[in-house]
Amino acid sequence: MSPPSAVSGLAAGKETAAPGGPMRLGSGEHMNLFCRMLLDTHDPYHPAIMDWPKLEADALSRLVSLPIWDIAVQTEGRARLNVATYAEAISDPLLKEAVEMNAFEEGRHKLVLSHLVKAYGIGLAAEPPYVPPKDPEWAFMVTGFSECIDSFFAFGLFEAAKRTGFFPAGLVDTFEPVIQEEARHILFFVNWVAWHRRTMPMWRRPLFELKVLRVWLFLIFERIGIARDVGNGVQDNNFTLSGANQLGAGIDVDELIAICLSENDRRMSRYEPRLPRPSTVPALARFALRLMRRGRKDRK
Ligand SMILES: [Fe+2]
Ligand SMILES: [Fe+2]
Repeated sequence: MSPPSAVSGLAAGKETAAPGGPMRLGSGEHMNLFCRMLLDTHDPYHPAIMDWPKLEADALSRLVSLPIWDIAVQTEGRARLNVATYAEAISDPLLKEAVEMNAFEEGRHKLVLSHLVKAYGIGLAAEPPYVPPKDPEWAFMVTGFSECIDSFFAFGLFEAAKRTGFFPAGLVDTFEPVIQEEARHILFFVNWVAWHRRTMPMWRRPLFELKVLRVWLFLIFERIGIARDVGNGVQDNNFTLSGANQLGAGIDVDELIAICLSENDRRMSRYEPRLPRPSTVPALARFALRLMRRGRKDRK
């Protein structure tokens, strides 16, 4: 498995951004910036040679008992297919290369997870067949917005697991590139949405906004349905929710949300400052945090 080859922004005929200068969303310069962000920050690690540290018996049993492995593997498999299918229809070489890189990295996440489960003797359920989506744009958006939700909480849970010692330091280091990759993916995705809605024909825009709304509703209902299954021993799509009880054990919910917010800012701070950051999930989290803290103050 090798990543897509490099195509420079100039070779692809895009205007290049003046360093630090103003940038208009939806411009060629904008597309150049978010594609180059994804391509230039690609980490060429090889899952096959990743070092899975030997775990103490208690750390190993905590890891094995996390109810997330089946769904994590299947989510990455579906994400790869969704993103790769959308890439097929893109004509712009730079954007195509960036979306292909995104798909390559999703496939690599699946490979990393398959090495992890093998290294620690975690059994997996049989994977369902991965069927190419009928509407590649819808599938790309479902994966993108879904990652915006899951990655935000994964950033905080990963940090919480580090602080509580749930994950030993060696395992944290090995898994870190995967978590950071999701930060790049959601930054790329929200910029693609901002660029895409501004560059499509005017008549398509209301339909696109409706599609954005339908994707959010789909994801909300999917998660509500899933939340009902939590506790029934069912492995589900919402692995951040299922894993939260265990990974964040000993940390209050408001503290966990505060960690998610600070980790989100920290991970995003590494990239081109002119690119807008994912904002919906952090804004909802900030609102929830304010409500929780106000409620606590009122009870005192
Ligand atoms: Fe992924
Ligand atoms: Fe991703």
